[in-house]
Amino acid sequence: MVEDLRLDSLEGVGPVTTRKLSDAGVHNVMDLIVRGPVEISEITGMEKDTAEKIVNKARQHLVEGGLIAKDFVSASEIYKHRQSIGKITTGTNCLDTLFDGGIETQALTEVYGEFGCGKTQFAHTLSVMVQKPKAEGGLDGGVLYIDTENTFRPERIVSIAQAHEMDPEKVLDRIIVARAYNSAHQTLILEEAGSIIEENNIKLIVADSAVGLFRAEYLGRGTLSVRQQKLNHFVHLLSRIAETYNCAAVATNQVMASPDVFFGDPTRPIGGNVVAHTSTYRIYFKKSGKKRIARMVDSPHHPEEEVIFALGEAGVIDPEETEKKTKKTAKKATTKKAKESKVEAAVETPEVEAAVETSEVEAAVETPEVEAAVETPEVEAAVEPMMDPELDSEPIEE
Ligand SMILES: Nc1ncnc2c1ncn2[C@@H]1O[C@H](COP(=O)(O)OP(=O)(O)OP(=O)(O)O)[C@@H](O)[C@H]1O
Ligand SMILES: [Mg+2]
Repeated sequence: MVEDLRLDSLEGVGPVTTRKLSDAGVHNVMDLIVRGPVEISEITGMEKDTAEKIVNKARQHLVEGGLIAKDFVSASEIYKHRQSIGKITTGTNCLDTLFDGGIETQALTEVYGEFGCGKTQFAHTLSVMVQKPKAEGGLDGGVLYIDTENTFRPERIVSIAQAHEMDPEKVLDRIIVARAYNSAHQTLILEEAGSIIEENNIKLIVADSAVGLFRAEYLGRGTLSVRQQKLNHFVHLLSRIAETYNCAAVATNQVMASPDVFFGDPTRPIGGNVVAHTSTYRIYFKKSGKKRIARMVDSPHHPEEEVIFALGEAGVIDPEETEKKTKKTAKKATTKKAKESKVEAAVETPEVEAAVETSEVEAAVETPEVEAAVETPEVEAAVEPMMDPELDSEPIEE
């Protein structure tokens, strides 16, 4: 570990530069890497050459300390590095299967789907699960939750924590919520997040929704390229932070079944940053009656697969859990009903109880709509990835 991440630990960075940088919200060596030379020069007014030199020094410093990967690495080194990637369990068998163990650190996972499909519930569940000890599938880490739609609910965290036999108060304490009021604020929160991430051992960053404010503020075709440019900046920042600080990033993205807003403008933002080693996973959530379907859409190494999950008090849950629960509720209701009738008639009627119980339970367990709704061809065509993959290549000159 590099003990000293202070800016002035870099050779050639004196008090004046340090002040200039911290005035611009760059507080440590990690922040330099995350923001990159172009941005550093923009926000500090520093010459681009100087900014490049400083950022290169920062990179070298972190490589030497083993905190980030070298520029040139062998495949076996990458393989070794990937072994150290942490995974956060989703608390369900079905989604863990889909994610091959859980949500990865050093990666951005995009969850998209229509309203009510469970994106926010998923984010809440992960915010609890990441706090579990490593032996139980967590990373014993904290959460930075960027809430752009005012849908973060501590009550849900409490229920989910209780369902997983965790102390709700402790769990709440480790979730830092940042409410973003507009897209510029949302980006600013992330730009300034470095020290919070470090101080609180943040292992999960949630942006729920990552896209909503951008979409609301930049309406119409004329503004689409600006919107995409700003959104790309946010998303790249998020994935660079995930990589630099070894934490998982989860971004949600609401999509509508109608294609209107998504068809698009061919304009590509100019001058993208080169994001090294960044993996992006895209998961599509779909409603299917009471159940939900999750599909791994885009992954460098997962097969394209689908699983069925459900939503409940415990957040995202395995579909069997709802059935168990329904059974229990049905039983309870039946016993109650039977008790009432017993009181009324003052006669023992065990056979009635048995009959009512079976029929109610059967009815509750059947969920034929799930299979029928698994096919979802219409939405896919209309969905665009948040991040333009082109941006990972060389900047485009005009
Ligand atoms: N306590 C709970 N118990 C069971 N299910 C719940 C509970 N709270 C919420 N849900 C389920 O979660 C659904 C809402 O999911 P969620 O808020 O995650 O959707 P979303 O994908 O974030 O939607 P949006 O795009 O509007 O933000 C509700 O329709 C409900 O079915
Ligand atoms: Mg939501």
